[in-house]
Amino acid sequence: MSSPQFDLSDPSDPSDPSDQSEMHTFATISALRSFLAPHRAAGASIGFVPTMGALHEGHLSLVRRAKAECGIAVVSIFVNPAQFGPKEDLARYPRDLAGDSRLCESVGVDALFAPDASEIYPEGFCTWVSQDDDTARRLEGECRPGHFRGVLTVCLKLFNVVQPHRAYFGQKDYQQALMVRRMARQLGLPMEVVISPTVREPDGLAMSSRNRYLDPAARRQAACLASALERARGAVAAGERDAALLADLIRSEILAGGPCEIDYIAIADPDTLAPVDTLRGPTVALLAVRIAGTRLIDNMMLEP
Ligand code: PAJ
Repeated sequence: MSSPQFDLSDPSDPSDPSDQSEMHTFATISALRSFLAPHRAAGASIGFVPTMGALHEGHLSLVRRAKAECGIAVVSIFVNPAQFGPKEDLARYPRDLAGDSRLCESVGVDALFAPDASEIYPEGFCTWVSQDDDTARRLEGECRPGHFRGVLTVCLKLFNVVQPHRAYFGQKDYQQALMVRRMARQLGLPMEVVISPTVREPDGLAMSSRNRYLDPAARRQAACLASALERARGAVAAGERDAALLADLIRSEILAGGPCEIDYIAIADPDTLAPVDTLRGPTVALLAVRIAGTRLIDNMMLEP
């Protein structure tokens, strides 16, 4: 795998006309900060998209939105070890910094931040952020102990480094976006957490870096997750309000798709993720399913 060149030019020179067109890549916090400082001082708003790389159209939709809504778009690529459990896919998580870098450049990213783990977690690192309530403990919190502690800690660190005016997250990772937004509000971070719609493949499968793990048969089967959620949406549009029935509908559609392990199917309050019995207002359906060893998550809003 080839690596892109890191930027060695003086990032503190705001008169550099190339700042407006070229993408600058940084591996250190201090270099990124020096690049951003003159833009911030000149009044530019900074939009930030944190990622773990292996970029696809879902990520790029967030970047395009950041670019459209802010003067400067910053993307981070960091496969965050702290959010992977001991039996999860950290070692084999797809990494392609050269390809990602080209994609970022093609959508007008101004600064790409690609630090090493030692830059984010220097020796002796022991400060962690976590949330301790039912919303945090449910669903992904229950299936992946420690996951959100890793996510929130890295997000807070990255927010402190970039100090964005807006940070962009995908609805695809619904609980994550909710928890990051709560963190920003509860800790008084001077920024907005923007949540953007899920981008899907033509057959409905939510785009995900982990879709690369699916062999052709598993990939075909995986379309059942979105079609099951769509079926529930259709049932709600036709008047169904019973959450248990909707969950059964989703489960049977997924099981009809082929062999799989269902971690959860939840019909929940969109703000707290508390289970709902009867739909009375906007509700979210969320699921996590393993197909051929690959764990996929998805969600859709159900609007009675
Ligand atoms: P990653 O999985 O790379 O996702 C980065 C961002 O892209 C997240 O906000 C995610 O919700 C969004 N995203 C992924 N697939 C999407 C899709 N199909 N449509 C719209 N948005 C999509 O999520 C993470 O990384 C990490 O947990 C991170 C926040 C970077 C912290 O390490």
